[in-house]
Amino acid sequence: MASKKRKTEGRISKSEGSAKREGRSSRVGPRVSDLRSPTSVVTGAAGFLGSHLTDLLLERGHRVIGIDNFVTGSLENIDHLGGHPRFKFIQQDVTEFLFLHEPVHYVWHFASPASPVDYLQLPIQTLKVGSLGTHKALGLARHKRARFLLASTSEVYGDPLVHPQPEAYWGNVNSLGPRGCYDEAKRFAEALTIAYARQHALDARIVRIFNTYGPRMRLHDGRVVPAFISQALHNRPLTVFGDGSQTRSFCYCSDLIEGIYRLMMRDEVRLPNTENRRKAETRKEGSRISEFGIRNSDCSPGGCPVPVVNIGNPDETTILEFARQIIALTGCKSRIVFKPLPEDDPRQRQPDITRARKWLGWQPKVPLRQGLQRTLEYFRGRE
Ligand SMILES: NC(=O)c1ccc[n+]([C@@H]2O[C@H](COP(=O)([O-])OP(=O)(O)OC[C@H]3O[C@@H](n4cnc5c(N)ncnc54)[C@H](O)[C@@H]3O)[C@@H](O)[C@H]2O)c1
Repeated sequence: MASKKRKTEGRISKSEGSAKREGRSSRVGPRVSDLRSPTSVVTGAAGFLGSHLTDLLLERGHRVIGIDNFVTGSLENIDHLGGHPRFKFIQQDVTEFLFLHEPVHYVWHFASPASPVDYLQLPIQTLKVGSLGTHKALGLARHKRARFLLASTSEVYGDPLVHPQPEAYWGNVNSLGPRGCYDEAKRFAEALTIAYARQHALDARIVRIFNTYGPRMRLHDGRVVPAFISQALHNRPLTVFGDGSQTRSFCYCSDLIEGIYRLMMRDEVRLPNTENRRKAETRKEGSRISEFGIRNSDCSPGGCPVPVVNIGNPDETTILEFARQIIALTGCKSRIVFKPLPEDDPRQRQPDITRARKWLGWQPKVPLRQGLQRTLEYFRGRE
């Protein structure tokens, strides 16, 4: 885990990358200059998902300003962007005041420890980035009149009593348990985002991300995909917690990022006919809330001014089945060992993606086997 470092600003160059790795102070690079492209700010840009999002935005013509303090991210994830003319990096803790000179059109707030190992080790930082960090990111979006997207999580559903979980489900979270720091930070971040939309008419969206995997995860971040892969690649026993009958659904990172991109860019996405009709009708009424096709009862009885969408893969598998799949795929000689279930570990997790299908025309495409093969290749290359 990288320690908290001095605030620096500038584009990353190859030489700057190696300077940072060697602990030398980094050069302050020129400001992004191409004002014709939309500008996106990505907090948590050096993380697993933030770096994939940054790649996609650059591919689609955005200028990207990445912000990260490397608390759980890595320079390696953005090193390939060294010298990119539309990428600029600012090393900063997002709980501190965020100020940028240039116009900003989109703010994607991804900064937060995300794996149980990280947030159990960093409970206060996790709560701070979910609260103060979200406040600063929302403040930036408001000041720049930018559209804002919060990376929330399926953890807001806690150990769900409803299965699969639709966005309208309020969740079953233990605020006092060890995972409370993460779950409640994200629930607060959602409430704050909605408050900004209500009080300041901020154009915002919330994505609730379900388990996602792929290259650039850290091998030892405690999440089940890298944990099993690491154990299998070393022919060590695969550790299954409980009896392995708890279920998870795994989404490959490129699928997830595409869904999130569509949610942010929704105006430009072709909606199903019924949605287009409803949108046209509601435009006449001039109602921003109903423009998104959200009925008052969808998110809360009081109505929700922000589209909230689950993005994840609904293909559910038990952890035991998943462990067997990893063993078969790697051809390792590992056996499976069982350990007691951690406190508040959810029994079931499966997104209801009806809304993502209907609103965004999105559904995951990458089959688990193919996604795991790509992930394995990445980890093999690092062994
Ligand atoms: N990966 C998943 O399966 C998953 C599931 C649900 C939600 N999410 C959400 O998606 C986002 C990204 O998750 P990830 O898996 O890429 O995790 P990650 O740990 O790889 O990335 C998070 C990034 O945020 C940075 N960060 C954390 N606190 C910061 C701060 N105060 N200031 C600046 N930077 C800070 C970290 O250094 C890191 O680069 C998180 O908000 C997470 O809650 C991820």
